[in-house]
Amino acid sequence: MKGNLAAAARRADKAIAVFDSGMGGLTVLRELRRAMPSERLVYFGDTARLPYGSKSKEAVTRFSLEIARFLLRRDIKMLVVACNSASALALPALEAALDVPVFGVIGPAVRAAAALARGGAAPGAHGAERSRGAARPGIVGVIGTEATVRSGAYPRELSAIGCRRIAVRAAPLFVPLVEEGWWDHPVTRSVAREYLAPLKKRKLRVLILGCTHYPMLKKTLRVAAGSRVLLVDSGVETAREVRMWLRERGLMRKGRGSEEFFVSDAPERFKRMARLFLGRKVPKVRLARVGV
Ligand code: DGL
Repeated sequence: MKGNLAAAARRADKAIAVFDSGMGGLTVLRELRRAMPSERLVYFGDTARLPYGSKSKEAVTRFSLEIARFLLRRDIKMLVVACNSASALALPALEAALDVPVFGVIGPAVRAAAALARGGAAPGAHGAERSRGAARPGIVGVIGTEATVRSGAYPRELSAIGCRRIAVRAAPLFVPLVEEGWWDHPVTRSVAREYLAPLKKRKLRVLILGCTHYPMLKKTLRVAAGSRVLLVDSGVETAREVRMWLRERGLMRKGRGSEEFFVSDAPERFKRMARLFLGRKVPKVRLARVGV
């Protein structure tokens, strides 16, 4: 019994690993931190190989497995795939290869969107989305990278839980605009209007931000979508589900949280941008070679 408790405490103390192709996963890390201040978070941004959204399933799966192998060496208790493209293309391969639980961002976003479309509140919603209340009837729209859209993951998962009025649109220009820091910029506003126009024509009610870069564009997307459209941020929903999973198993860490950051290229740029993404300074960002 004592042995079991000690083993659970040792496991609880391990880190949560988080990865993305670049900076986008920081929107998920931000929510994980908000939900679980005591956790150790280890982040990997594959800045040398971004974007994933235009790559093949084979490439994204290989990159994801290489990163996972690197992160496994950091004493982790779970892996959060903070990238929709990798969640859409590489989740089964990661689950099969790793002996720690793997969380993608698509399932939590889909469950929240379906709840909103049925007229409830997104379970993880905070701030604006919660106070906006229930959605009126209409479609669930999804915007994401080309890889995510091509995978069909969102329509598949949404229809599996009974949500059938769906429209999906690739929005490939958003990732470079976010990485450039053009979050509230005339060019981005005009691109957003263009991408959302066909969805709005079909009575858009819930919009899933199906790429972890997009929460940085929330303000712009909210204006372009219209104030009645409810936005679903997969980071918020994923953090809520991860927290619940850990709590139910007695695996939440106690004490002071910490963070480690690794990238595959240009750590200085990442550090500078991460400060803007998170609204605070991040500790040292280290260069890591994966897959060599
Ligand atoms: N942030 C990633 C996602 O959620 C992808 C960005 C990219 O590398 O294309 O899909």
